[in-house]
Amino acid sequence: MPTLNWIGKEAVINHHLQVPYRLIRSDDDASPGAAGAGNLLIEGDNLHALKALLPYYRSSIKCIYIDPPYNTGNQQWVYNDNVNSPEMRKWLGEAVGSEAEDLSRHDKWLCMMYPRLSLLRDLLRDDGTIFISIDDNEYSYLLCIMDEIFGRGNFVGTIVWKNVTDNNPTNISVEHEYVMCYAKRKDLLPPVWKSATLPVKDRLIEVGSDFINRYPDIQKRQETYTEWFRKNKSFLWPFDRYKYIDDGGIYTGSQSVHNPGKEGYRYDVLHPNGKPSTQPLMGYRFPWDSMQKLLNEKRILFGEDETKIVELKVYVQDYRSKLSSLFELDGRVGTNELKNIFPESKRPFDFPKPTALIEEILSFTTQGDDIVLDSFAGSGTTGHAVWKLNQQDRGSRRFILIEIDAQVARKITAERLKRVKASQSDSQLNLLDNEVPTPSFRYCHLDDPLFDEHGQIREVVTFSDLAHHIYFSETGVPLPKAVDGQRPLIGTANDVAYYLLWAGRGSVNVLDSVTLAKFKHAGPKVVYADKCRLTDSQLRRANVVFRQIPYSIKVN
Ligand SMILES: C[S@@+](CC[C@H](N)C(=O)[O-])C[C@H]1O[C@@H](n2cnc3c(N)ncnc32)[C@H](O)[C@@H]1O
Repeated sequence: MPTLNWIGKEAVINHHLQVPYRLIRSDDDASPGAAGAGNLLIEGDNLHALKALLPYYRSSIKCIYIDPPYNTGNQQWVYNDNVNSPEMRKWLGEAVGSEAEDLSRHDKWLCMMYPRLSLLRDLLRDDGTIFISIDDNEYSYLLCIMDEIFGRGNFVGTIVWKNVTDNNPTNISVEHEYVMCYAKRKDLLPPVWKSATLPVKDRLIEVGSDFINRYPDIQKRQETYTEWFRKNKSFLWPFDRYKYIDDGGIYTGSQSVHNPGKEGYRYDVLHPNGKPSTQPLMGYRFPWDSMQKLLNEKRILFGEDETKIVELKVYVQDYRSKLSSLFELDGRVGTNELKNIFPESKRPFDFPKPTALIEEILSFTTQGDDIVLDSFAGSGTTGHAVWKLNQQDRGSRRFILIEIDAQVARKITAERLKRVKASQSDSQLNLLDNEVPTPSFRYCHLDDPLFDEHGQIREVVTFSDLAHHIYFSETGVPLPKAVDGQRPLIGTANDVAYYLLWAGRGSVNVLDSVTLAKFKHAGPKVVYADKCRLTDSQLRRANVVFRQIPYSIKVN
């Protein structure tokens, strides 16, 4: 397979393996709502944050959406778009060395992205997908490194998002950007993605007088609709398209009674006024028996009179759509959404994505309590989109957001989530607010590495931190939640039991015959402790491998 080369590649290609494991600490004062909802906002460089997440979330993320700097070279943006921020310059100097001085802006961007994408792949579930927003500046380079990291066979496709109209056309007016998609293992994806929620264009977000005037019939039925929503625990409010209601729910009419192309079945379907309805041009697509069944089930929608061709009712709950390679939505929608949340600010954050774009992707690729990750969080659109989608389909998806810029993380990302959380209870969409899981998130900081420069465990490290780290470095998978907190047996994998004898830095924990006698596991055991008083033959007989703290702990 052809591969891309650039200055600095050698230095960064395995860099993610050298990044030290850091601790992630929750800042309770900055974290609204109850702990344990599973949503995280981490302030810090995503390279370190992603590595820190590995012992907890390896192969656990269902969908990653990222919107990295496009590398336009435009210094004016609130966030740094040309990978020239002091943090990035410092990191490049350390990771790439003196060569970093000579890097072009494309080299720098690739150096920045490669190790981060490698870690993102490790965090994805086998049936997970990653979507990356990008424009022409780096699209082709990104495609090459994604092929390298994810494998060409896992390329799923690219969505072209038409987001602007160019009123000052150049040779070719650029009126779009891209969202590139790869799977971790494409063979594990369903052959067709189906969304249980309506496509964005069919959702009416504003439930106001405007639509009531347009559909006077709905005005009469408003009470009934609300009842229907309550009964069906649904937040779908698809008045634009689904404008009828009967006992089966909200529906629209579809032309699928027509026989396409060749001559179909011919018979009369009587309109309620007693006259035969006009037949489709090529006849009906079902035989009379099927039509009769549909008529009995009241699945046929009649026109105003017999001159109209009948339609088949399509109920909201049966709606299935496709994720298309074309997405059309004015990019200013994102800016306006954010301005509504921050009315006091003229430009809270430049070029936030519209929640609808991310909702569209997530509605096809996630469900239930899947975890969504955005490691270039910006204004927090992904977190907002996750909450909105949960409201629509009663999901309990969780998110992890990472943002390097402390000002943005605190004043925009966190503040947006807080305001959205506060407003959700009186949102028009939230007819059943008391049934929606209360949105909350933990605001987190990246703490020190687990180990100091001499490989010693730092004082701040807790038993739980070390247990997660050891279990993960031994097994390659996160410590299961069900056993989190156990001691000294921290977990068992493939019939090997992992024990940790440790009571914090400075304590001396010894593996001796008294301790050994307490271990119930009959199979092989791996025991981490400061000292061992057992002989080699005693260890062999007891099926124990001793690992000395800290020297035998893998530090990165
Ligand atoms: C294009 S913006 C994302 C906008 C976001 N999608 C939204 O809708 O608001 C990119 C964001 O990534 C952040 N960023 C850049 N490098 C980063 C890094 N190494 N770690 C974490 N965040 C980073 C920037 O500070 C910026 O806020």
